[in-house]
Amino acid sequence: MIFENTKAFAQKLDSQDSLRKYRNEFYFPKVNDKEVIYFTGNSLGLQPKSAKNYVDEIMNDWANLAVEGHFYAEKPWWDYQERFAEPLSKIVGAKPLEVTVMNTLTVNLHLLMVSFYRPTKSRFKIICEEKAFPSDQYMFQSQVNFHGFKPEDVIVEVKRREGEHNIRTEDIIAKINEVGDELALVLIGGVNYYTGQVFDMKTITAAGHKVGAYVGWDLAHAAGNIKLKLHDWNVDFAAWCSYKYMNSGPGNASGCFVHEKHHNNPDLPRFAGWWGHNKERRFKMEPTFDPIQGADGWQISNLPVLSLAPYLASVEMFAEIGMDALIEKRDQITAYLEFILHEIDKEISSNFEIITPSNPAERACQLSVFLHGEGRSLFDYLMKNGVITDWREPNVIRLAPVPLYCSFEDMYNFGQILKKGILEK
Ligand SMILES: Cc1ncc(COP(=O)(O)O)c(C=O)c1O
Repeated sequence: MIFENTKAFAQKLDSQDSLRKYRNEFYFPKVNDKEVIYFTGNSLGLQPKSAKNYVDEIMNDWANLAVEGHFYAEKPWWDYQERFAEPLSKIVGAKPLEVTVMNTLTVNLHLLMVSFYRPTKSRFKIICEEKAFPSDQYMFQSQVNFHGFKPEDVIVEVKRREGEHNIRTEDIIAKINEVGDELALVLIGGVNYYTGQVFDMKTITAAGHKVGAYVGWDLAHAAGNIKLKLHDWNVDFAAWCSYKYMNSGPGNASGCFVHEKHHNNPDLPRFAGWWGHNKERRFKMEPTFDPIQGADGWQISNLPVLSLAPYLASVEMFAEIGMDALIEKRDQITAYLEFILHEIDKEISSNFEIITPSNPAERACQLSVFLHGEGRSLFDYLMKNGVITDWREPNVIRLAPVPLYCSFEDMYNFGQILKKGILEK
């Protein structure tokens, strides 16, 4: 499609947008009495208007039923997470038994590392991406220390080539083959939080398995954003947070995937708790742990249903829409944003550079823009003028045109504000 940098053209794209009614399903913050242009759904998604009803339902059941709510609530609390299995499995490309919701992201990655990172004297190395999200770096270091190894002997980062912003798949594969028999685990962010690069999870997973390692993914920026086929790609495990593209609310629960090939493996250690115990027998209070066959077997504590409630509201919205429709709009709106940025660049001397891959197959709903020079003041200008974006050191703003609630007109208006901001500097 040939794009135009005009309001009329952006409005035409909005009128043809099959998802346009969903914009009204979300609350938008206001700046200067106007709804903002919201680019930070990759950090915290907007609140779906339906979320409150889901929370109220639990508050009411708690008021009216108290402890009886575990079994007699509108949606009984004791197995509340099972309502996620079907819709969530479609979002991440899994079988319903392979997914669960529990805890928070870093906690779950730690728990999954308990099962899938069991270093020996000869096989102990972990491959991750250069500049992984800090929480993942701290997690690796602490896990490695916990097992009595030294991080510098164990953690192998795959680096970007000199002068390049993104990591090449071929370099990851080469590193996997180089580490070979010493490799215990590959664990990478499926979509890089900083650049928005989407990794080739299928190829990397297969390469890790070929040398005998487990392969897991941190899907914080992937769940609800890209097409995932975790089961078919034979991924061992994955976890994601739900407060970004999945709009579940600040700091909210994490989703987990454990491939079915691991469900019946009695040799796989895990940290256990009563909510992972055989459901039919849980309240018999037996002394020996008998795990549920499925990802639910990794549950530990009884469910924080008040926080799962808004997550369920969001997951049901995703189920109604389907990932294919979301991805179709995502690609179009991201391409339109990229076009607008290039147009501004042509019109004025902008001094910025998009560091996200230009190939649509290697990116999703994010463009990271490196601002050469006075970046921070431009960021402040955008925020004051109703464009909510975020700042990442040393000089990057990340723009996520979330297809569920961003409009093409937002992209046009953003371009105009950006241009004014650059000219005023
Ligand atoms: C890629 C990635 N990994 C891990 C985390 C940490 O998530 P949590 O604080 O829910 O553990 C984040 C948070 O933004 C993230 O973006």
